[in-house]
Amino acid sequence: MVMKGRVSGKVALVTGGALGIGRACAKRLAAEGAAVAVTDVLDAEGQANVNEICLTGGTAGYWHLDVSNEQEVQDVTRMVKTKFGPISVLVNNAAVSGVTKPTHEISAEEWEDLMNINVKGVFFCTKHVLPQMIDAGTGSVINLSSIYGIMGASDIPLYHASKGAVRSMSRADAMIYASKGIRVNSVQPGFIWTPFVQNYLKTHGNIEAGRKAFDALNPLGNVGEPDDIAYGVIYFASEESKFVTGTELIIDGGYSAR
Ligand SMILES: NC(=O)c1ccc[n+]([C@@H]2O[C@H](COP(=O)([O-])OP(=O)(O)OC[C@H]3O[C@@H](n4cnc5c(N)ncnc54)[C@H](O)[C@@H]3O)[C@@H](O)[C@H]2O)c1
Repeated sequence: MVMKGRVSGKVALVTGGALGIGRACAKRLAAEGAAVAVTDVLDAEGQANVNEICLTGGTAGYWHLDVSNEQEVQDVTRMVKTKFGPISVLVNNAAVSGVTKPTHEISAEEWEDLMNINVKGVFFCTKHVLPQMIDAGTGSVINLSSIYGIMGASDIPLYHASKGAVRSMSRADAMIYASKGIRVNSVQPGFIWTPFVQNYLKTHGNIEAGRKAFDALNPLGNVGEPDDIAYGVIYFASEESKFVTGTELIIDGGYSAR
């Protein structure tokens, strides 16, 4: 049984909610009282997350949603409204890391494949949820950027570009929609132990050695857990952050403080 929580009464849509950070965000939002639409392209994993949430007394539903497909975004945002009511919290979380190549070796197709998910997906979901928030006169959009949207590194330049774009989109939308009662903020995770990082390590070396190397990168001595990010998302989703818009929350174990 979920008692009255920090986001009780809210309706949250989480993209990429089957695994990793999105999965944790969906669980935390439900535990704090929101009705949660878990969306993803991995249907079995997404449905499993919903089942776990419902078993613990939370309210959730699963919808297949490829964020790069505008028609699907339009259809799913409407269906969520019909089932739970207007969406008041949007967590734009779905993203891919893309190719590990230097910029001069990246093809136009590789650029488009990544940008279609990481940037256009955020645009489509925001675009189709905003009318519901405007009608309600309230809402919180939370965009998952990355410390890679702030800092340079030599491995995945396309991903850097996409996360910088998400950061900028968040600030611009914060300005456009502040007068409508809608807040837009971004979260910049550091290295978080999710399938995203695990798959990268599997294809680029040894997962155990990689974990130790990632741990050592962080002043706090370890990589983060998905819940470390979900707690930041809960803050932006809740009324505790009612005076906060256009800002960025770095959650990175101190990595970027150097
Ligand atoms: N893990 C990290 O270290 C880290 C660091 C910085 C930022 N981030 C950001 O946090 C967010 C979540 O990362 P994660 O580590 O949990 O990733 P993950 O790969 O573990 O999970 C991402 C989820 O998004 C889904 N997804 C992929 N393409 C999709 C699409 N087209 N439509 C809908 N869903 C799709 C996947 O199926 C998966 O469930 C991403 O935006 C990522 O860029 C992660």
